[in-house]
Amino acid sequence: MVDTSVDLCGIRLSNPVIPASGTFGYGYEFAELYDINMLGTFSFKGTTLQPRFGNPTPRIAECTAGMINSVGLQNPGVDKVISEELPRLSRFFNKKVMANVGGFSIEEYAECASRLDKCDIVGWLEINISCPNVHGGGMSFGTSPLAAAEVTRAVKKAVNKPVIIKLSPNVTDIAAIASACEGEGADGVSLINTLLGMRIDLKTKKPIIANRKGGFSGEAIFPIALRMVNDVYSAVKIPVVGIGGVASAENVIEMMLAGATAVEVGAANLVEPFACKNIIEALPLTMEKYNINSLSEIIGGANG
Ligand code: FUM
Repeated sequence: MVDTSVDLCGIRLSNPVIPASGTFGYGYEFAELYDINMLGTFSFKGTTLQPRFGNPTPRIAECTAGMINSVGLQNPGVDKVISEELPRLSRFFNKKVMANVGGFSIEEYAECASRLDKCDIVGWLEINISCPNVHGGGMSFGTSPLAAAEVTRAVKKAVNKPVIIKLSPNVTDIAAIASACEGEGADGVSLINTLLGMRIDLKTKKPIIANRKGGFSGEAIFPIALRMVNDVYSAVKIPVVGIGGVASAENVIEMMLAGATAVEVGAANLVEPFACKNIIEALPLTMEKYNINSLSEIIGGANG
């Protein structure tokens, strides 16, 4: 029998498949469709210190092999997440969940992470310094090694659980940003968030997205994500979580060969709510097809 398990920052996952933040709500919405305990874990909706209404609509534009979103970190705020969303999730989910944290200042990241760190169900803190859809926060921290390092340092000081920094692809050298986070004690990095993109409506001659531009994701970005995962894997010693255009068990294996310890699935969940279930069920046969006995043994195998 093949072994699909992996170790992510000291916590064992039965498989490396993780629905990405913003594509899986707070989990229980999908628990109506299937037993979400089959997932490695999942990263819940990006959460900020204060509640956020999000960006004006339209927020979504369809593209070939992908989509653009500009949601703007809509969420009920960390206190409501802790008092309402997480207790509801714990009725359906008996594993550790990944808490995704957004912010607009270093202090806000640290405070929000510190509150979530105290929740028993939270296993990892994924710090999103790469949201392209908000002003004065998000990606502005993830496009400079200095700012990324500062956020990492502040969050690490405020929490006890493993910290995974979610990186932006909208930079020249993503490996330099990853190294800066590692230098301040990040326990892992996840990448890539979405690529900045835009669509124009030919009838109105105006941008489709109210915020003009947004983050492009979906199968079209898989080769870019794979290359960046491999760049970062070659530059750091901490675990890398691969994200970007993953839609099949084959994609998961490819990401792991590039250097990913675990793999987040994003846009695919919006097209097919059973995407992660289907991928997890297909993994053992796909491993057998490619003579792979243990997933943890193939991490970074493309570099060997
Ligand atoms: O607009 C959004 O909420 C997207 C967040 C992200 O891509 O990090």
